[in-house]
Amino acid sequence: MTTVKRDFGSFHSSNVQELLSIDDNEYNSPDLPFRCEQFDSKQKECPKFGKEIRKSHFLLEDETVFLNHGAFGGVLKDALDIAQKYQRWTERQPLRFYDRELLPHLVYVTRRIAKFINSDPKDIILVENATTALNTVIQNIPLNTGDVVFTLSITYGAVKKMLKWRCEQTGAQLVAINVDFPVLGNKQIIQYVDEHLKPGTKLAVFDHIPSNTPFIMPIKEIIQICKSRKVPVLIDGAHALGSLPLDITSLDPDYYVTNAHKWFCSPKGVAVMYVRKELQPLTRPLIISHGFGSGFNSEYIWTGLHDYSSFLAVHTVIDFWNYIGRDNILEYMYQLCKQAGKMLCDSWKTNLAAPVDMFGSMCLVQLPEALHNEGGTLDYSSAEKIQNILFHNYNIEVPIKCVQNKLYVRISCHIYNELSEYEKLRDAILDFINSHDQL
Ligand SMILES: Cc1ncc(COP(=O)(O)O)c(C=O)c1O
Repeated sequence: MTTVKRDFGSFHSSNVQELLSIDDNEYNSPDLPFRCEQFDSKQKECPKFGKEIRKSHFLLEDETVFLNHGAFGGVLKDALDIAQKYQRWTERQPLRFYDRELLPHLVYVTRRIAKFINSDPKDIILVENATTALNTVIQNIPLNTGDVVFTLSITYGAVKKMLKWRCEQTGAQLVAINVDFPVLGNKQIIQYVDEHLKPGTKLAVFDHIPSNTPFIMPIKEIIQICKSRKVPVLIDGAHALGSLPLDITSLDPDYYVTNAHKWFCSPKGVAVMYVRKELQPLTRPLIISHGFGSGFNSEYIWTGLHDYSSFLAVHTVIDFWNYIGRDNILEYMYQLCKQAGKMLCDSWKTNLAAPVDMFGSMCLVQLPEALHNEGGTLDYSSAEKIQNILFHNYNIEVPIKCVQNKLYVRISCHIYNELSEYEKLRDAILDFINSHDQL
């Protein structure tokens, strides 16, 4: 792939590859038209986690007990304000914004987010969501009849569909190893990979935090196994950014995908795709536009005319995380999750789906035995029924999962949550059991 300058047809577009390559001490960042001043200085005291920060920095309504951040996130109010300012700014003079301002601003966001996840900015791409990035990687893997693609049963449903489709198109075989519940520990997960992953496999795909069974996978060890067998590995970290200390350099995967619009709380429509340098020439965008043929980042940065405001608001999200402190945020979420998980298990006389230390900001708690029909099979519709009752009768938003014939609730814990909300969930389930004989 040859790299050419002036790659977007617009005479004022800077060369993206060049701007990303400049050393930090020589790089001049563009002036940002909007900033959230509160996050610029440490003068103002940080709001308290729980109700206080919910009111000051989130838009969630008071009436709902919101325990499902893991589904679609929950935006940082200040970042949405900035995104909306960018939308209005764009329309004041669309040509100035798109042709003269946008690309250097996107480069700057890329540089900042790269720092946050300890990656070379030249190795990451901003995309609209994890789904786009996952499709991009999977569609680019060369596969032939008889080739093997490897994953686990707990992999995200849409990703299994992507893999299945790609295998059907190419005649490759999808191997999805079943994970038994309850999970006993990291060793068990590592063992599944160690025992079943064969050298010569064309791609292995793992969630960093599976959506339905949200423990933090021993991904570093898994990547090491893949490497030792020369198997390219794609990690779906849709839940990772903002819910664990993500360090791409230390993990050293081949491909890594993470959402910014989930736990990191950016406005909807931002994710990051990392691709190891050697694989970049083989990883071409699904959307071909002006930057095609001009280098890895240039190929992706312009996907046609659309609203880029969410990308630009990521500055505000990063400022917020620096202002509050990443470790403070993670510590609160993890402690709350442990506490809430234990309280629910104690009260319902049940267990978590995996050892407590495997969970971070979400955990999976088994529902009371009374909700498990004796001898009957439970499935997605039994789970859906309880989820709907919690929503309609108790105004609690939380997902119920059915895993291997057992019902679980997946609780999310963000900095705006507090223990009393999980107590409401506890009481609602007990109330429901007392007032109904059967599901
Ligand atoms: C593990 C996992 N992968 C991928 C996705 C897809 O993310 P998005 O809808 O932002 O593309 C999700 C969404 O919940 C997820 O949980």
